Amino acid sequence: MPLLSGRAKLAGVLGWPVAHSRSPLLHGTWLARHGIDGAYLPLPVRPERFVDSARALADLGFRGANVTLPHKEAAFALCDDLAPSAGRAGAVNTLVFRDGRIEGSNTDGFGFTENCAQSVPGWSAAAGPAVLLGAGGAARAIAAALLDAGCPRLVLVNRTPARAEALARGLGGPVEVAERPPLESASLLVNTTSLGMAGQPALDLDLSPLPSGAVVADIVYVPLETPLLAAARARGLPAVDGLGMLLHQARPGFEAWFGAAPAVDEELRAAVAADIPRR
Ligand code: ATR
Repeated sequence: MPLLSGRAKLAGVLGWPVAHSRSPLLHGTWLARHGIDGAYLPLPVRPERFVDSARALADLGFRGANVTLPHKEAAFALCDDLAPSAGRAGAVNTLVFRDGRIEGSNTDGFGFTENCAQSVPGWSAAAGPAVLLGAGGAARAIAAALLDAGCPRLVLVNRTPARAEALARGLGGPVEVAERPPLESASLLVNTTSLGMAGQPALDLDLSPLPSGAVVADIVYVPLETPLLAAARARGLPAVDGLGMLLHQARPGFEAWFGAAPAVDEELRAAVAADIPRR
């Protein structure tokens, strides 16, 4: 880390645990690239200490913070002002401390759609139906972003159908719940479950019914290439990995705290991918 002045801009990531977070490496790479007098720190905070700790960061002059597991709902409840993205997601992953107030937003959906757009030239959420596997917090943020971006039909498939039904009701719009993924009509397939993550079973899904050109996206990024993405590539389909979503979701926070618009490019990907297993 470069030397800091008394005016250094400070931010960090609140989580428990937080040691696995790639956000300090990611923001640190951008800070160095832009030559900014600032720092981004890992901030391990137990759930029962979250609210006091977040308020203390504001008192200490931090510009803001990211919020990761298990604090995203507590952060939502803490904020004085919520962006529409936070309301739609029901959770906050980005805090900005401004004029004595705490502003919250959720950039996960933005990260997802920006990553698809950068990874697949010409991609549009409006191009056709999307099938989304899972019904947790990540599914909610991504589903909301897809609908906001004009997705004409969204089909939710989850191990526990009641959770998918509840999510569909909360989202409103052209959303359905299905028992099996209707792949033959999908323009986009997204895995938001933990299946395929290192140490978890692979997602067992035959991709052969997908139309040619359908995009397959995974939010899992450990490993970088999940079995699902490998199967998509083997079929010649565009595969969008979870690392890109992580990189893009970080952009709005960095810009708000440090005052520069950071780029997501191959060099950044390589810097963050260096400590992620490939398979
Ligand atoms: P997050 O907020 O990170 O999205 P979550 O709320 O724990 O995490 O949701 C994880 C998703 O992965 C859920 O959709 C979960 O299915 P359930 O709602 O039935 O729990 C899904 N998931 C996790 N393990 C799974 C497994 N072994 N098989 C199928 N789905 C699984």
